[in-house]
Amino acid sequence: PSAAWFGPGGEATLAGIPLVRLAERFGTPAYVLDETDVRLRCRAYRAALPKAEIAYAAKAFLCRAMADWVRSEGLSLDVCSGGELAVALSVGFPAERIIFHGNAKTPRELQAAVTGGVGRIVVDNIGEINRLAALVPFGRRQKVLVRVVPDIAAGAHAAVRTGREDQQFGLSIATGAAGEAVARVLAQPSLELAGLHCHLGSQITDAAPYEAAARVMVEQMARIRETHGVMLAELDLGGGHGIAYLQGERGLDLVDYAGRLTAAVEERCAGLGLRAPRLVVEPGRAISGPAGLTLYRVISVKKALNHTYVAVDGGMSDNPRHALYGSRYEVRVVGRRHQGGMRTMTVVGHHCETGDTIADDVPLPADVHPGDVIAVAATGAYHHSMASTYNLTGRPPVVAVGPDGARLLVRREEAGDLMGRDVGF
Ligand code: LLP
Repeated sequence: PSAAWFGPGGEATLAGIPLVRLAERFGTPAYVLDETDVRLRCRAYRAALPKAEIAYAAKAFLCRAMADWVRSEGLSLDVCSGGELAVALSVGFPAERIIFHGNAKTPRELQAAVTGGVGRIVVDNIGEINRLAALVPFGRRQKVLVRVVPDIAAGAHAAVRTGREDQQFGLSIATGAAGEAVARVLAQPSLELAGLHCHLGSQITDAAPYEAAARVMVEQMARIRETHGVMLAELDLGGGHGIAYLQGERGLDLVDYAGRLTAAVEERCAGLGLRAPRLVVEPGRAISGPAGLTLYRVISVKKALNHTYVAVDGGMSDNPRHALYGSRYEVRVVGRRHQGGMRTMTVVGHHCETGDTIADDVPLPADVHPGDVIAVAATGAYHHSMASTYNLTGRPPVVAVGPDGARLLVRREEAGDLMGRDVGF
């Protein structure tokens, strides 16, 4: 099931609840998340990769309920900040199932990760190895993964490609940094090198780059065995699994990906005489993205020289992705039948810059008017988590829908919340 697409007559519902009712009850803009859909996506991953560890990438979307759903579905959690770690621990997420990432973890974050007892910390620079080792209490060993650059290009946009040489993530094989990190971790009695990690990028829809990365990584594991005589137990191949944003688009085929990835690892291991490591994957977008949508209300419809602008009550503060990556979306007027056919229009927000666009040149009913409710599909990942308070706009609430109806997960941010931090007056 996917929450992403709407019926042709405007009769859009999520978990059986009309979207217009949700807009009336919770106000707009609002993010709506289908709990059942999230849970089914978690289960689909476990079914497709039954021997692997599935770590949901919290950066896509996290609140306490989400952390709890992921926990109860048996997934692990990839966190990349002290904030994400705190949310996870606050709902009793088992610390040993947490993987802590970051290319610039602060001393406080490293301390919080060690104190919190996270299962693995992913080393992403040489300098943090000694700092981390010094934080581990006497008698304990902290498991770490070393993040390696496989030098493979993949990902929907330059801003989200992290698998190539010469960017800020991971340690290069070519420069020797990866090998040096491995040697240094192995030399620290308080650290245990559990395995290697790589992450290619995001919104990848083809399994081929993952197969290529798997081979490179297995070769690195073989080299480590030769050099140091240790066989690493884990191979974390990151996330980046693409989803469909537009009708007719295809995301990464999970079953195809799972089969090809497993085969690539097993073949390469057999070729090198290695025992196959336990795989870890870190999907974020593919778990929460299609399960969510955003509701707005139309405030104005303006005909400019060549375009019609439909301005809504949200914008780049709740969805910066068009401005950042040129992302495109399915947009619908929901809850009423329309007349006069469809016209091409541009949906913009209420912020004071021309880049504040949600969807360029999309078909909308010719009679769209102020008060209409507009739904934007597949916004469950990297929307709430990337929201800002630009123009001192409060961030929208997050509403969950499920078999028991709708409930508020995160309340709307009000001016009072924003002023609550302003302590200098
Ligand atoms: N693991 C690591 C180490 C990551 O850096 C990421 C995403 C993931 C897993 C999860 O990737 P996913 O499966 O969600 O693609 N803000 C961008 C996406 C940035 C992704 C950053 N890292 C966007 O809105 O498209």
